[in-house]
Amino acid sequence: MQQVTINEVGLRDGLQMHRTLVPVEDKLRLAGSLVEAGLRAMEATSFVSPKAVPQMADAAELMAGLPGTEDVEYSVLVPNQKGLARAVAAGAQAVNLVLSATDTMNEKNIGMSLSKTRETCVATVREARAKGLQANAYIAVAFDCPYEGRVEPQVVAELADEMLEAGAGRVIIADTIGAADPVRVRSLFKVLLNRNAPEIFACHFHDTRAFALCNVWESLQAGVTRFDSSVGGLGGCPFSPGASGNLATEDLVLFLHQCGYETGVSLESLLKSVELAKEITGRDLGGRSMAYLNANRAVKTRPAPNGCDDTG
Ligand code: COA
Ligand code: ZN
Repeated sequence: MQQVTINEVGLRDGLQMHRTLVPVEDKLRLAGSLVEAGLRAMEATSFVSPKAVPQMADAAELMAGLPGTEDVEYSVLVPNQKGLARAVAAGAQAVNLVLSATDTMNEKNIGMSLSKTRETCVATVREARAKGLQANAYIAVAFDCPYEGRVEPQVVAELADEMLEAGAGRVIIADTIGAADPVRVRSLFKVLLNRNAPEIFACHFHDTRAFALCNVWESLQAGVTRFDSSVGGLGGCPFSPGASGNLATEDLVLFLHQCGYETGVSLESLLKSVELAKEITGRDLGGRSMAYLNANRAVKTRPAPNGCDDTG
């Protein structure tokens, strides 16, 4: 069976726009629960300006308390070299840079033009690699930008090349506002795979229009085997209007398992993580499959009638 890696982003992308500060102990409980559910890749936090994103001010403290399972691949988001220095001091081994495909989106997100962001990302990727860290690059608003509209595949491909040349190990195609559809995913990968192998890429889809899993499917057909998702569908980007609804991890796991892929994640344990995420955020979370999953769980835990244990 083919293995697909799920990179859980609930603790970073998921929590960054949550208004009430979540205590670090609660974030760590959630991280522990996700690891217990079998997730082996996780974006744990970001080393950004605490004024810009107060929720991430506890990044170093969080890093110090993460469950130390050796086979969990933790990464952290850094916007610049200052963030990299803080991440290195906190013991991070992999950093993620974010490069939005348009000028306005970069201005809104990190206060820099596209060309200045490119310079900063190249310098930060190079420095991270020189320090022995893995560096990955997100290309945000890779399909539509909420400010500038449609983004052409060629633009994304050029940014991806620049990041790979600087030393990025992976490029993550991010549909920040959930605007992609399978036809556009196919067109984008047609261009991207002219120059690079599919293993270099991962995808980050938002489920705003309920197309996220269609886009996952199309990416799988292109050979991509790594996807971001967020427990309970938590989160979005505070700097990008319309960026609600990360693809929920439970939807992704259910879909992949049913289609015959292996993820190493236990759906039953993952539902406990969804409950925990609800408890610590006070929000009514859950992916599109939640009603089905809950009904299925209720059937499994109900005593079998007439001594029959076949619950169908
Ligand atoms: N971590 C902590 N502090 C940082 C920092 C970092 N990575 N980068 C810059 N700073 C500090 C500076 O030292 C400066 O501090 P001071 O006011 O005490 O002197 C202050 O932030 C402003 O720095 P400046 O370089 O002028 O940047 P800015 O105010 O234009 O902010 C960013 C730029 C990138 C730091 C800020 O916009 C940011 O952190 N954005 C993150 C957005 C995000 O997380 N997006 C999520 C991706 S979807
Ligand atoms: Zn997201």
